[in-house]
Amino acid sequence: MSDFSFSRIPAIIFGRGKTMHLPAKALTYGKRILLITGTSYLQNSGILNLVLSSLNQHGIETSHRAINGEPSPETIDQIAGEFSPESAKAVIAIGGGSVIDAGKAISAMIGKKHRVKDYLEGVGHLQHDGTRVPFIALPTTAGTGSEATKNAVLSSCNSETGFKKSLRHEGLVPDLAIIDPVLNLACPPRVASACGLDAFTQLFEGYLSPLASPLSDSLAVDGMLRAAENIITACSAAVSESRICEFLLQPKLAEQEFASLLKAKEAMCYASLLSGMVLANAGLGIVHGFASVIGGLFRIPHGVICGILLAPATRKNIATALKSQQGRKTLEKVNRMAGLMNGEEYSDANTGAEKLCEILENWTRQLKPGRLGDYGISATHLELIASKSNAKTNPFQLTLEEKIDILQNSL
Ligand SMILES: [Fe+2]
Repeated sequence: MSDFSFSRIPAIIFGRGKTMHLPAKALTYGKRILLITGTSYLQNSGILNLVLSSLNQHGIETSHRAINGEPSPETIDQIAGEFSPESAKAVIAIGGGSVIDAGKAISAMIGKKHRVKDYLEGVGHLQHDGTRVPFIALPTTAGTGSEATKNAVLSSCNSETGFKKSLRHEGLVPDLAIIDPVLNLACPPRVASACGLDAFTQLFEGYLSPLASPLSDSLAVDGMLRAAENIITACSAAVSESRICEFLLQPKLAEQEFASLLKAKEAMCYASLLSGMVLANAGLGIVHGFASVIGGLFRIPHGVICGILLAPATRKNIATALKSQQGRKTLEKVNRMAGLMNGEEYSDANTGAEKLCEILENWTRQLKPGRLGDYGISATHLELIASKSNAKTNPFQLTLEEKIDILQNSL
């Protein structure tokens, strides 16, 4: 067995209705809490009021800030600057990946003298020391796995100098992740599709990474199988936002009314959690290399970029594997995964590789993430995107032409 190391993971509470465990857990950090949410779902559904009143009943004084869209360095500095480790004994983030990333970055910047930009990879010149106020993450989407990772992605989006970069340190892994599939029930199919394809991409890229270990592979394979079985059902429907509070208080009601949807969304929540652990330890591939560049230049949701590029990038990696001496290990792993996903066994790697590509292309047809061209990307942008995109943990270092080819096939 090869040597490996594995980062710390958060304490995890997973299950239907577990959101209501939050106040008792938060209380262990103190009675002054900063709550970070998005701007619509929690407010519109009544979940925000439910959470605030249950924190209040436990004697917890809560300050609330809402994040609109993907967090910028300026937003993080502004909110972190309003608090000190005394006025925010812990930060809680309830929301999608952007909200969790924002909460994580804010928890890391409260009480710091510098701007967060100074610590961003590839942008700043300082290394964050990993100290922060305690941080609890409650995801409402099943996609980024941010509740289990050591980085927060911040965006400065514009057409020339935009970037998407990480604040990263082992110490930034959340203290606690509460993963409640009931919170995910209202996630609309379009958002759920993008998030689900992101989670699968993270699992698959970590699985094929040169840094993959036996432990990360176990998590990746389990996550991919659960995602493969459930992604279509989980993205087929959503429950009305107005029912979620009722279901948080009585999860049995949701089980009675929405058994199969809840089961599928629960599996995707679990796959997403695993994807965070896998990416934090094995790294990511060329799809995320592209996503980091495209996300800084164009306003496209991260999961949509992953969904668009997953199948064409996989075809290109497999074509490169077939041509290369070092490609055998990649092909064997792809073959194994295709067999597990289809419940079959393929005697030659080419068949397995083709079957896997067919599965991914079938998801693209059903889940419809769209094309890059739908978001304003044209042939004139491809060389710039390709030249800026790289992924050290893609199984192969692709040439500029190969990268342009993937983008061209996704226009
Ligand atoms: Fe991702």
